[in-house]
Amino acid sequence: MSQRVAGFGTTIFADINALAAKHGAVNLGQGAPDFDGPPEVLAAAVKAVNSALNQYAPGIGMAPVRQAIAHHAQRFYNQTLNPDTDVLVASGATEAMFAAILGLTDPGDEVIVFEPVYDTYVPNLVMAGVAPRYVPLRGDDWRFDADELAKAFNPRTKAIVINTPHNPTGKVFSRDELRAIAELCMKHNVVAITDEVYEHILYDDASHVRLATLPGMAERTVTISSLGKTFSVTGWKIGWAMGPAALVDAVNQAHQFITYAVASPLQAAAATALHLPFDFFEHLQSSYQARRDRMLAVLRRAGFKVFKPQGSYFIMIDWRGVAPSHVQNDMQFARWLIQEIGVACIPASPFYQEADKQLGQYFARFAVCKKDETLDAAAERFTKLGKT
Ligand SMILES: Cc1ncc(COP(=O)(O)O)c(C=O)c1O
Repeated sequence: MSQRVAGFGTTIFADINALAAKHGAVNLGQGAPDFDGPPEVLAAAVKAVNSALNQYAPGIGMAPVRQAIAHHAQRFYNQTLNPDTDVLVASGATEAMFAAILGLTDPGDEVIVFEPVYDTYVPNLVMAGVAPRYVPLRGDDWRFDADELAKAFNPRTKAIVINTPHNPTGKVFSRDELRAIAELCMKHNVVAITDEVYEHILYDDASHVRLATLPGMAERTVTISSLGKTFSVTGWKIGWAMGPAALVDAVNQAHQFITYAVASPLQAAAATALHLPFDFFEHLQSSYQARRDRMLAVLRRAGFKVFKPQGSYFIMIDWRGVAPSHVQNDMQFARWLIQEIGVACIPASPFYQEADKQLGQYFARFAVCKKDETLDAAAERFTKLGKT
């Protein structure tokens, strides 16, 4: 095994899924819906398979899909993109992010990430020979300190990665916060790479601001999103990167030698999905609002301190006061919850760097992207809590 990957270990998701299966726990760990995507989108994929759309797509993505991505950006954000030069289809947001990092940074550069940090970014940076620079999100609203962020920028900083709505906290970065980030990017000539896969999963009155649409940011932002979360087809791994031609070309230079091209029939179905009427997106939001509210009530009733999310599939909790005293940290909490209560969640410390693990030790993340029956089954298991 190379030194490059030797420190990675297995992802927490694999560990928790295995333990949850072993103990028959209700799995609110991984952010994958346990219900299917819209029937018309599934049908479009089947139709494409049966219509001989089964050979390599162009490396940058099929033209109707790139057009649908550009159309979606215009429809929701008033963002104008040339589908021939400003859009690249990738194998999920995950590959788009890795290709963006490889295409836009050099070994020895630094890239700023907010902590807690979605778990693929830092291994991506390590594989690219780039040093992550962490800026913590703290407090009930997961805010960053403006001075701390400003200090993170230095002559080696090549890019900053922003994930909004944010996994694992459910934070939605405000327009003011994004403006502050934008100013620093412009001042230091830094590229922003945004991960917006939860752009349509928003709660209460939260609205999603696309950093690329703030003044001065169009030319220095690569926006990444994907089909999986919005259309409940996480297994399809269809994602995309959008931005100015020069940056998208850089991302494509890496993409062409990672996956080259992405599953043709699923791309074809992506075009159908992205053209769905506003009704679909409104219904998505109201159904997620109901799931989040249901799960917030369950977690509060169980005695947890909850961090009310503004977006994403997730709710973070503080488990102190609920778990028995022998449970000392988030990893022990997750194990105890699976074994004794029968519910699986994701401990928060894997979203923190080694030196900051203690910042996440009292937190855990629950996914709400589940059927009512699943959430009810979890609620039922939590009634055991009073008895332990
Ligand atoms: C913040 C974030 N980015 C990216 C992904 C993965 O996206 P995809 O399945 O499109 O690769 C996830 C999935 O959990 C995520 O939470």
